[in-house]
Amino acid sequence: MVRHHQHNWVVSPGTTPTPFDCRILEMQEKGFIVPTNRLVKTPEQIEGIRRAGVINTGILDMLTTEIREGMTTGEIDRLVAQYTADHGAISACLGYEGFPKSCCTSINEVVCHGIPSDEEELFDGDIINVDVTTIKDGYYADASRMFMIGNVDPKVKRLVEVTKECLEIGMKAAQPWGFVGDIGKAIGKYAHEHGYSVVRELAGHGTGLEFHEDPIVDHYDTRHRGMLLVPGMVFTIEPMLNMGGREVFIDEEDGWTVVTEDELPSAQWEHTFVMTEKGLDILTH
Ligand code: MF3
Ligand code: CO
Ligand code: CO
Repeated sequence: MVRHHQHNWVVSPGTTPTPFDCRILEMQEKGFIVPTNRLVKTPEQIEGIRRAGVINTGILDMLTTEIREGMTTGEIDRLVAQYTADHGAISACLGYEGFPKSCCTSINEVVCHGIPSDEEELFDGDIINVDVTTIKDGYYADASRMFMIGNVDPKVKRLVEVTKECLEIGMKAAQPWGFVGDIGKAIGKYAHEHGYSVVRELAGHGTGLEFHEDPIVDHYDTRHRGMLLVPGMVFTIEPMLNMGGREVFIDEEDGWTVVTEDELPSAQWEHTFVMTEKGLDILTH
């Protein structure tokens, strides 16, 4: 059997295109990249993703009160796993392409995808990103936050704050019937104005029915418009900003941990959003 992978917007034969269909088809005919039907979620699917988001946010809120100096990232992982199980949910990270834990914990010069470990302790002055993705009833929600341990160097604190502002700026740049490229353009500009670099190797992504769906959401100016943003699309924005250069490498030992080349600190914040007629709505508040 031949499976035809759908690459564009389709109106079922015999049905009349709605004004919504027509608006997408018009853009498609002009040569713009438009979402496939699966990328535009139904109200029912959006509510399912929102429910996954509530649990995901519960995990991050719980960590906000629990994380402290002297704790190991292994303990953080157990807290995430316990909360997830207690709420009838599943960690999307655990077993994903062989990832061994229930969340990612990325300290200081670790950009992302750090693997929790009982050997890794949090010290005064550390910054740590915890990235959690929860599956509830088959729906995915993905978010991450930074946590500051004790007395953090004001310069590092500023990196964390500006990175959070980049997420907010990306969120405002994303407009219905605008383009994915608007997001990275706005984020890149703001980051560079503040003297930081933006990691290019990793991006935000569609999510909801799978962990990673289209579109790719770059956080820098790609000089391409990218996919049309249509109400009902669900995706993350998750900028990674470096204090020094943008260059990163993957730890050869574990094959996961992404680290800054110059070993200067990096920060990241992430939310899952749904596009509405009025702009983005946060599903991981
Ligand atoms: N949560 C990450 C993201 O924002 C992906 C982590 S994949 C894992 O897309 F396997 F490392 F968990
Ligand atoms: Co994530
Ligand atoms: Co993500």
